[in-house]
Amino acid sequence: MKICMVGAGYVGLVSGACFADLGNTVWCVDKNKQKINELNNTKIPIFEPGLKDLIYKNFSSGRLIFTSDLRSAVKNSDIIFICVGTPTLKKSRSADLRNVFEVARKISKCIDRFKIIVTKSTVPVSTGDKIERMISKRNKKVLFEVISNPEFLREGEAIRDFRFPDRIVVGSNNKKAISKLKSLYEPLIKKGAKFFSTSRRGAEMIKYASNAFLATKISFINEIANLCEKINVNVEEVSIGIGLDQRIGGRFLRAGPAYGGSCFPKDTKALTVTGDMYKTDLSIIKSVIKSNEKRKILLTTRVKRILSNKIKNKKISFLGVTFKPNTDDMRQSTSLTMIPFLSKKGAKITYYDPTGKKNEFSSLKNVSFCNSINNACNNVDLVIIHTEWEEFKALDFKKLSKKNKFKIFDIRNLYSVKDMKKKGFNYYSIGR
Ligand SMILES: NC(=O)c1ccc[n+]([C@@H]2O[C@H](COP(=O)([O-])OP(=O)(O)OC[C@H]3O[C@@H](n4cnc5c(N)ncnc54)[C@H](O)[C@@H]3O)[C@@H](O)[C@H]2O)c1
Repeated sequence: MKICMVGAGYVGLVSGACFADLGNTVWCVDKNKQKINELNNTKIPIFEPGLKDLIYKNFSSGRLIFTSDLRSAVKNSDIIFICVGTPTLKKSRSADLRNVFEVARKISKCIDRFKIIVTKSTVPVSTGDKIERMISKRNKKVLFEVISNPEFLREGEAIRDFRFPDRIVVGSNNKKAISKLKSLYEPLIKKGAKFFSTSRRGAEMIKYASNAFLATKISFINEIANLCEKINVNVEEVSIGIGLDQRIGGRFLRAGPAYGGSCFPKDTKALTVTGDMYKTDLSIIKSVIKSNEKRKILLTTRVKRILSNKIKNKKISFLGVTFKPNTDDMRQSTSLTMIPFLSKKGAKITYYDPTGKKNEFSSLKNVSFCNSINNACNNVDLVIIHTEWEEFKALDFKKLSKKNKFKIFDIRNLYSVKDMKKKGFNYYSIGR
């Protein structure tokens, strides 16, 4: 099939490359011309395991085309996926849909035959209705169909998630459009992915409800961890104990920092806006958002306590700063709250992340990037294990702290409390 992905970000680029790998011809469009130039020179703008090779393979075979020319990409394609960002509007909880509507307006100007327009971006319920109204101002209804096909891939595991999704959700009342999408996804359905079709609004809601539920699970176990710390119970054992109940399930029950990333924070907020709009109090989700905000403060307070309330001039090292491993995405990472706070209080911060230096910290006082774990931990007072990258899972702390015996705050619970105590380390973790 001939497909166009508008927005070559984490979702558009990965799914575009994967669709091409299934044998489709894919035009990846982005308004960021520099990004398109780089992609045309096989420079990959994001870090995602396996993506570089996949892009190279399909770009070389001519099945993956990068362009800023939306008009020709739309004209060439049968299915157009809108994959642009929908961040939170400034000083608001609402999703910023300007990019989505801008793309819809542009698409409406170049429809010359039947097109299926798919929102893969996460958009609030009824956005599909609005896009349809917008496009029908210029085009007869028989020439297009707007459907919802939310994306569930996780950064860091995006290619695997695309190839082996738990489910593919398609929202539309148009049988022709649903069957076209079903044949596009047929290779994945054959491998076991469940295909679920519902109404367009239903599909939009499924995406928000999924993310809100997962965020709730994380906040739930984080609060249980707070209690475990006070009652001398190991939260990991509690997670296992409750996760073994099949009604609950063990995933997303690992206590740690506040949830971050490009989806949960913005999607939980946007869902409460929809709730308010329809005069429905989504009190659970509102509490989850509050609990998550509190958690960021709680962790910095914990750092203060570990350092006996003396942050000024203390040397603190962060191992990992991204919101999770195997991605370079910094959006809503806990480090974006912790590092500025500690730097303001006079701490001297070094950080190491496998994906390199981060612009987010370049204007901060006394914050510097180190190109190795050794350099980052050299002569510091406290090491904070912030992200669970593989390379932080078996560190030789004896060697690292040879010059200066530092304290360790492991906010990902990567090490055993018993082992660390036995080795004589001042080791702090979460809920244990
Ligand atoms: N990142 C994830 O893990 C993930 C997972 C599932 C769903 N989503 C959803 O998918 C959507 C995209 O997320 P993302 O993380 O890929 O975003 P992103 O910020 O990485 O990429 C968006 C891309 O769209 C481009 N863009 C913006 N406006 C454009 C326009 N008018 N024309 C052409 N290109 C334009 C930007 O330049 C950027 O390259 C969001 O709605 C997000 O909630 C993201």
